[in-house]
Amino acid sequence: MKSYLIIFHLALVLFGFIFVEHHLDTPGRAQADRESLMSDGSGIAARIAAVGQIKTAEAQSAATTTQVASTTEAAVDGQKVYQSACIACHGAGVAGAPMVGNAAAWVDRIAAGNETMYANAINGFVGSAGVMPGKGGNPTLSDAEVKAAVDHMVSQSQ
Ligand code: HEC
Repeated sequence: MKSYLIIFHLALVLFGFIFVEHHLDTPGRAQADRESLMSDGSGIAARIAAVGQIKTAEAQSAATTTQVASTTEAAVDGQKVYQSACIACHGAGVAGAPMVGNAAAWVDRIAAGNETMYANAINGFVGSAGVMPGKGGNPTLSDAEVKAAVDHMVSQSQ
C-alpha cells in the first residue's frame, strides 16, 4: 500500500513538473506569435522573398539551359552525342543494340527510313533484339541531338 502511495506521489510530481514546464514558456511564445502578426510583415516578406529568389534563380538557370540548348541545336555534334549517350550500347552491340559499323545490323533499319529511326531513338522502343530506351535513357538530350546521333551512327554503318 505504501509503495502505491509513493508511486502516486511521484507521478503527481512528474505531472506537475511537465505541466509547469509546458506552460512556463507560453507567455513568451504568445508574444513571439503576436509580434510576428503585429509586425509590418517584413518577416513574412523576407520569407516570401527568399522563395521568390530561389524561383528567380531557377527561372534564370532554366533560361540559361534553354539558351545553351538552342545554341547547341544550331551546331549539334552527332558524334559527340553518340559518344556520350549511345556508345555504351551501340559501340559493342550490348543488350541487342545494333552495333555501329555493322552494316548488316543496320540495313533493315535504314530501309525503314530516317523518320522511323528518329522516332524510335527519341521515344524508345522494344524490338526483337532488345530494349532501346528513349534518348538512350538520357532525357536531357534534345530531339535534335538524338537525331544528329542517329545520323552519325547511320553514316558509320552503311
Ligand atoms: C541501354 C542500351 C542502349 C542505349 C544507351 C542506346 N540504345 Fe539505341 N538501341 C538499343 C537496342 C537494344 C536497340 C535495338 C532494339 C531492337 O531492334 O530490338 C537500339 C536501336 C536503336 C536504333 C534503331 C532504331 C530502329 O528503328 O531500328 C537507333 C536509331 C538507336 N538505337 C539510336 C540510339 C541513340 C541515338 C542513342 C543515344 C542517344 C542510343 N540508341 C542509345 C539500345 C540502346
